[in-house]
Amino acid sequence: MLVDGVPYRTIWLADDGWAVEIIDQTRLPHAFVTRRLETLQAAANAIGDMQVRGAPLIGACAAYGMALAMHADPSADNLARSYDRLLATRPTAVNLRWALDEMAGLLRELSPNARATAAYRRAAEICDEDVATCEAIGGHGLALIEAAARGKSAGEPVNLLTHCNAGWLATVDWGTALAPIYKAHERGLALHVWVDETRPRNQGAALTAWELGRHGVPHTVIVDNAGGHLMQHGRVDLCIVGTDRTTARGDVCNKIGTYLKALAAHDNGVPFYVALPHSTIDWTIHDGVAEIPIEQRDPAEVLEIAGLTPAGEVARVALTPAGSAAANYAFDVTPARLVSGLITERGVCAASADGLAGLYPEHAPEHAPEQADG
Ligand code: MRU
Repeated sequence: MLVDGVPYRTIWLADDGWAVEIIDQTRLPHAFVTRRLETLQAAANAIGDMQVRGAPLIGACAAYGMALAMHADPSADNLARSYDRLLATRPTAVNLRWALDEMAGLLRELSPNARATAAYRRAAEICDEDVATCEAIGGHGLALIEAAARGKSAGEPVNLLTHCNAGWLATVDWGTALAPIYKAHERGLALHVWVDETRPRNQGAALTAWELGRHGVPHTVIVDNAGGHLMQHGRVDLCIVGTDRTTARGDVCNKIGTYLKALAAHDNGVPFYVALPHSTIDWTIHDGVAEIPIEQRDPAEVLEIAGLTPAGEVARVALTPAGSAAANYAFDVTPARLVSGLITERGVCAASADGLAGLYPEHAPEHAPEQADG
């Protein structure tokens, strides 16, 4: 995607061919800052501190973290330690484990002196694959937006609603939920996106609004609780969100608050789609509510908020009375029955074991329990 006319990915190899560079997402939308990562520890901190975030990008950064680790010390001990260190950074997005398994599976088979070169090569492939995958998701999701546009009179925009940031900043490029929106925008379709602010870290207000704005896509930031009201009044044609982990039967875990949007969409007959690459599917589990670990983050993210002061500085301020406790659940699970369909790089399918098995027959679960309706 373009930033001030310059094409960027969210992660890339530095000109020296071994360090890794990222966009520091904690500085957006008020400053565009890139950072150089030189060590495994720096890569792990970038994920843990959410300088990089979003399920596919977490995986890509972890892959490059393994490459940095092998550059420093390609021993089997360091390989195992680095895998564990990176895996411990964030618990919910399964792309992290997927990417680490890809890297470790390859590197364990090699002699130490071959590991660094192979690690950089595979990390670069993971990034390129993510770009191609997300672009394909965009192509498949485009058909849904085109269908919604056919129900509109000339010039009337399709109104979409999205939650958190599942745009190009959450991936290597294109995004998942936003890829169909970028494709539709490229085609010249009239669009308008309702952007949930996504408390407490405000990935919607800070990141989704920033990238849509840079790309010229009309959008409006709304508070997290506004979506239901807009749906009741016919102001949302289609919801598209991302996911951090999708189970083999199609339950989707995404940023906290996604479930409430899905309930509102269900109650109002608004289609609710979830966009995801294959690396977000956890084929080992079925019941998302029972089986997906939900990250709990620092309560300070709820108790305080950061913003730009009139003096042009970013400052944190307190929101709550001193002494109030806060809980900070970062994700929730939307049961498959509330999801109209899954938009993948292989096409759109029902959010069900059969739907996913149809697109990914190599993973077809033999005895996956379907969720009862109701
Ligand atoms: O905590 P974050 O910002 O990493 O959470 C990101 C999300 O919840 C996204 O919706 C998800 O990763 C989908 S990514 C394309």
